[in-house]
Amino acid sequence: MAETMKGLHRSHRCAELSNKNIGEIATVMGWVQKSRNKGGIIFVDLRDRSGLLQIIFEEGDVGSEGFAKAEHLRSEFVIAVTGKVEARSGAVNENLKTGDIEIRATDIRILSESEVPPFPIEADSKTKEDLRLKYRYLDLRRPDLQRNIILRSKVANLTRQFLCDEGFLEIETPMLTKSTPEGARDYLVPSRVHPGNFYALPQSPQLFKQLLMCSGYDRYFQIAKCFRDEDLRADRQPEFTQIDMELSFVDVDDVLEVNERLLQKMFKESIGINIQLPIQRMTYAEAMDRFGSDKPDIRFGMELQNVSDVVKNCGFGVFSGALENGGSVRGINASGQAGMPRKKIDALVNLAKDFGGKGLAYLSINDDGTYKSSFAKFMTEEELDALVKAMEGKPGDLLLFAADEDEIVFDVLGNLRLELAKNLGLLNKDDYKFLWVTEFPLFEYSKEENRYKAKHHPFTMPMEEDLHLLDSEPGKVRAKAYDIVLNGTEIGGGSVRIHQSEIQEKMFEILGFAKEDAYERFGFLLDAFKYGVPPHAGLAYGLDRLVMLMAKEDSIRDVIAFPKVKDASCLMTEAPNIVDDKQLNELGITITQVEEQ
Ligand code: AMO
Ligand code: AMP
Repeated sequence: MAETMKGLHRSHRCAELSNKNIGEIATVMGWVQKSRNKGGIIFVDLRDRSGLLQIIFEEGDVGSEGFAKAEHLRSEFVIAVTGKVEARSGAVNENLKTGDIEIRATDIRILSESEVPPFPIEADSKTKEDLRLKYRYLDLRRPDLQRNIILRSKVANLTRQFLCDEGFLEIETPMLTKSTPEGARDYLVPSRVHPGNFYALPQSPQLFKQLLMCSGYDRYFQIAKCFRDEDLRADRQPEFTQIDMELSFVDVDDVLEVNERLLQKMFKESIGINIQLPIQRMTYAEAMDRFGSDKPDIRFGMELQNVSDVVKNCGFGVFSGALENGGSVRGINASGQAGMPRKKIDALVNLAKDFGGKGLAYLSINDDGTYKSSFAKFMTEEELDALVKAMEGKPGDLLLFAADEDEIVFDVLGNLRLELAKNLGLLNKDDYKFLWVTEFPLFEYSKEENRYKAKHHPFTMPMEEDLHLLDSEPGKVRAKAYDIVLNGTEIGGGSVRIHQSEIQEKMFEILGFAKEDAYERFGFLLDAFKYGVPPHAGLAYGLDRLVMLMAKEDSIRDVIAFPKVKDASCLMTEAPNIVDDKQLNELGITITQVEEQ
């Protein structure tokens, strides 16, 4: 039967011991990683969250009863061992922090036994993720996940330290609330006391943090759970965590400045990375023009070139046609890739089509300076030369062009650029390149809904310089909104908020909210603004994305203890699930139709 802790105390975690402790008596506890019985002598690798430690059992030290227990050990048994720390009797294991020591056991307790686990508990697991997620509690024992979860805790802790030192107050906001305007679908929670009424889980603490500014708390932060019912990807979960903050009496620069120092501390003290301040800034317009993306990965070049002027009068209908329709022709130079096999080029053409392009025109420059191209026959020698020159093409280069409306050209080439970089191994995870993207458009036009939508959210302040365009050309108005981008991932975003009711009303008007609708949804905020509202601004990071990049993982699932899978279910608890009729009755809910699985 499993033994207890009575009278026993852990003295160290396994890997807290080192050769400095040689000669001391230590008591360690953990899981059996591996046990080898060499006849008369048993070696056990003991594991806890700090790492591994070798234990040696010999009958002369641990007694016959203790030795019998040691013989009984299997992987994942939980044991406590007391013994003397010694220098390794065998070869030193260079790969292990405790590789030059071992404990010679004088006492052992088996605290619990284990069935054979469904997969081995080891780093770099080859086990399929679905099986690991079903047994997440075992998966979480693996050293790579433990490292990530410990890193996450450290980052949260550094954030708290820094922000508290800077005069921010940590304040909680409700989870059961009213729909917030971040633009995704809400998760709804039915009310038992108010049948037919629902709470929404917050998509972010946006409205509450603005109210806290009205209430005078002047610098707020929260490490907040947010909920968004949207299509999941590797960097998106239905519930995720924001480092959320709001500041009063500030403008854009103040928010960026304090956040740069926060990032600097976080990266230095958690993963030893030095961030040079100030972090580079780029306007949205420049980011799109140079990288075809509002979250450019600036670890590598391959920037977009606008060649519209060069091909303006050329004979290639695809190019001239796009220009006549108000679009543009842009290219990227995949330097040194002229030899790319046809099959790979075709894959790039298909990628262009996936992003809405009608095709992808290419031209490779042979070593002898001649060209091979999908459109050479439509252009004169001079036109081709001018195009190659504009692209700074050299022998051995592959030039790729998209011709379409700007939005599609950016999307196609922006994604092509990333794909090429991935294929060419240009994405070095040890390289951390930060970028502020600023001056986002205030609105984006939704073709489906035939109206403007807020690009960030409806409380974002237009740039003072562009206020005069609100009525005439809302599409051209830039916002005091900013994103912080790391290696092509948007890790955070925020804005200066509107604190003048006239501008807020104008915003709602352009967004197509009748005044009553706006009051219906956000009346409490609009009312609060009538009683003295300080100018305020804020920002929120996706903590999961931040830690994912710090841990050099490809998915935020690897930095979340209990994540959900693509269809938003949890493979371990099997949530979401059906509930009792009794529960439904109490809530006044009837299920009318359930789609076949
Ligand atoms: P935004 O909607 O840009 O801004 O969200 C801020 C950051 O949260 C992260 N994020 C996510 N992470 C994981 N899974 C998701 N589904 C997900 N959605 C967003 C991103 C993003 O940059 N209230 C505003 C902030 C503000 O204006 O202060 C907001 O929520 O890293
Ligand atoms: P086509 O005349 O349609 O055979 O196209 C000639 C070349 O132009 C092919 O390589 C196409 O992939 C490419 N192409 C077609 N449409 C576009 C476009 N909108 N932008 C860039 N290249 C295109």
